[in-house]
Amino acid sequence: MTELNAPRLAFDPNRALPAAAYRDPEWLAAEKEKIWHADWVFAAMEDALAAPGDQLPVVIGDQPVLLVRNQAGELAALSNLCAHRGTLLVEGPANAARIRCPYHAWTYDHAGRLIAAPFAPEDAIDKQAHCLPAYRVESWHGLVFVSLDPDVEPLAERFAAIAPDVSSREGNGLRHLSQQETTQVWECNWKVAMMNGMESYHVFRVHATTLEPFTPTRDAYYITGSARATATGGSNKGEDDYLLISLPPGFVGVFTRDSFLWQAVSPLGQNRCTVRTGGSFVEDSGARGLGRLGEWFGWIVGAAAYPAADFLPEDKAICERVQRGVTGDFVPGRLVPMERVVVDFGHYLNWRLNGIEPPAVHSEPAP
Ligand code: FES
Ligand SMILES: [Fe+2]
Repeated sequence: MTELNAPRLAFDPNRALPAAAYRDPEWLAAEKEKIWHADWVFAAMEDALAAPGDQLPVVIGDQPVLLVRNQAGELAALSNLCAHRGTLLVEGPANAARIRCPYHAWTYDHAGRLIAAPFAPEDAIDKQAHCLPAYRVESWHGLVFVSLDPDVEPLAERFAAIAPDVSSREGNGLRHLSQQETTQVWECNWKVAMMNGMESYHVFRVHATTLEPFTPTRDAYYITGSARATATGGSNKGEDDYLLISLPPGFVGVFTRDSFLWQAVSPLGQNRCTVRTGGSFVEDSGARGLGRLGEWFGWIVGAAAYPAADFLPEDKAICERVQRGVTGDFVPGRLVPMERVVVDFGHYLNWRLNGIEPPAVHSEPAP
């Protein structure tokens, strides 16, 4: 057992995270090793790699990874670093039959095999020894996840508990809109942003005029979940209830009748994180009938068709304010029943960082 496996980072999941989780370098190092470089991490929506030859650079933890759709239609996740001198191979979305380094034109196929090294005598470079490392990549309901750990559990197993809830929302097919994703930098630890995205407890206070009139805190409820994945729900004025899925470490998505809106966080050190947002619509809905969450999406993507809804800036502001507090000395408070998803997240951290097996899936009947 390595030092990082020692349970001394363990904490009581029924309470808020300890201050050490936000300021202790040991936490940061353990999260990188045990979560961001070992667990499934959301990478992209599958539609961003729809055609053979599509290439999309992403960052998993702090590792540059290149997603590739090969000619057979299969997804691969390769190191995005040239096996020659480490140059970043692909910087933006591309479509090409090969991966060619911009520096000395070493060239790789879609499986990461080195097929050309210009001006190198045939026996000078062992091509087998200069392939791009490949990582685990799987797609789940159109969401592409990558893991740098070859032994991570299959994605279908990881999210099995909430799969029926998600399937029930996809009847008409979701049309993803990856080209309209946005990315922001928030001045807070990634866990602050993730927990905020998971729980509906803060809606009445932080989103008093933006969300609360449409998705009131009092109507939020727990459906099913565990440390691996959680489904919650709540009323959505004038429409079917929303379904909120939380997929730790960093992905949260909300299904309404005609849309799926999501947020993905990843760390930039201890005090900052990136927050990506995007949306998908049911095929036949067009841009109609999306309700308040659709308005929010319209705001995110800057579509003039929707009036401004400003709840994302509210989340950013409160998360950054949390960050200014939690690195001080405080005794972590008890979580309330409405924060059960945050308890699940605590078990997730204890599981990944300390090897503590999380409780089994638990469910509550719909209200
Ligand atoms: S660094 Fe890529 S070919 Fe030289
Ligand atoms: Fe919020």
